[in-house]
Amino acid sequence: MIRESFRRQYGTDQKLRVFRAPGRVNLIGEHTDYNLGFVLPVALELACYVAAAPSPDGRIRVHSEEKRESREWLAAESVDLTPVHNWSDYPAGVARELVRAGYPIEPQLLLIHSTVPEGSGLSSSAALEVSCALALLAGRQIDPLRLAQLCRAAETGFVGTPCGIMDQFVSVFARENSALLIDCRSLQGQTVGLLENIEILAVNSMVKHALGQSAYKQRTEECAAAVDAFHRADPAVSSLRDVTVALLEKVSPSLPHVIARRARHVVTENERVQLFVNACRRGDLESMGQLMVDSHVSLQHDYEVSCEELDFLVDTAIGIEGVFGARMTGGGFGGCTVNLLHPGAVGHFRREITAEYQERFGLTPQIFECHPAPGAGELNFSEKNPGPVALPG
Ligand code: GLA
Repeated sequence: MIRESFRRQYGTDQKLRVFRAPGRVNLIGEHTDYNLGFVLPVALELACYVAAAPSPDGRIRVHSEEKRESREWLAAESVDLTPVHNWSDYPAGVARELVRAGYPIEPQLLLIHSTVPEGSGLSSSAALEVSCALALLAGRQIDPLRLAQLCRAAETGFVGTPCGIMDQFVSVFARENSALLIDCRSLQGQTVGLLENIEILAVNSMVKHALGQSAYKQRTEECAAAVDAFHRADPAVSSLRDVTVALLEKVSPSLPHVIARRARHVVTENERVQLFVNACRRGDLESMGQLMVDSHVSLQHDYEVSCEELDFLVDTAIGIEGVFGARMTGGGFGGCTVNLLHPGAVGHFRREITAEYQERFGLTPQIFECHPAPGAGELNFSEKNPGPVALPG
C-alpha cells in the first residue's frame, strides 16, 4: 500500500494525504484537440496516485516507486526549475507552473505510484501531472479548468511536448460510467452516457516507435500551414475546426498533397466525433464501430500516425466475432488500440488477438478492460475501498 511505501521512503506518514488522477482511452477524435476540435475520451481505473505530506526542511521531494528515483528542490525556488529530461520533469514542471500562476506551494514530500503503463498511449503523463498538481496544492482551492490548463502548460512549456488539452481535461473532469465530449475550443465538457451492452478494451501493442515525438510536432506544423491556406480562402477560418467539408473540397486541390490529407483527417474526424455521439445516444453500435474503423483508416492514410503493429491489431480485431469496431488511440506510432465489443465476446477476443499478435510480432499484448472512471481527486483514506472525493475547493 502507498502508505507503507511512503513510510519506508520518508520515515513518517504524519498528515498523509493521497491524490489520484486517471489515465484515459480516447474513443474517437484523434489529433483534433490541438486543432480546437472535438474529442471523446473516457477516464480509466488505471491511474497515478500521489501520497503527500508536509516536508520539514523547506524542500519538495518527489520519489517515483516505478522508477526508484527521486528529485528534490527548495519549494521557494520552484519557479527557477529547469528540465532534466526524465519523468521528474512532470512534477517539476507542474510545480513551476503553479507558482508562476500565483499558487504558492508548500514544501512537500511526494511519493508517486502509477498503474498507467508508460508509453502505452493511455496518458500516463497527464495522470502524473494532475495527481502531482493536486498533491502540491495540498487542498488549496483551484478552478478545475485552470488545473487542467496549468498541467498542460507544464507539458508544453517545460517538458517540451506540444500536446493538446484532451488528456489533462479528461483526467480532471471525467465522470463515472461516461465518456466526455470535449469541445477543445470552448473548453466545455459534456458527459456522454455509455451503453451497458458494450465493453471497451484497450490493447497495448507493446511498441513505441521513436518517430512519434518528432512526427507529432510535424503534424502540428502541417496543420498550421493548412490553417494559413484556408484562412486565405476564407478569413473566418482561424483553426481547422472552422473548415467545412465544402471549403475543404474547394481549397484542397490547390494545397500540397500532404497538407490537404492532414486537413482532411482533422475535418472528417471532427465530423465523426459528432456522428459517434449521436449513434451512441440512439444505441447504434454498428455505426459507432464503423466510425471507429473510418477514424483508424483516416489516421493511417491521411494523417499517417499509425504503424504496422496498430494496423495489424485493428485489422485482426474487426475480424473477430462480437467486435463492433477498433482503432488506434492516442498520439500513435505504437501504444494502444481501443476496441468496442459485445460483453460476451471478451474472453474469445482476448485469446484470439493475443495468439494472432504473438504469432505475427512475437509480442504479448497487454489487454485492459476499460470501465469509465471518475476524474481526479483526493482519496478518502479511512474507507476500506478508497474512492475519490470531490476536487479540493
Ligand atoms: C497525445 C496528446 C493529446 C492528443 C493525442 C492525439 O495523446 O497528448 O493532446 O493530441 O495525442 O489525439
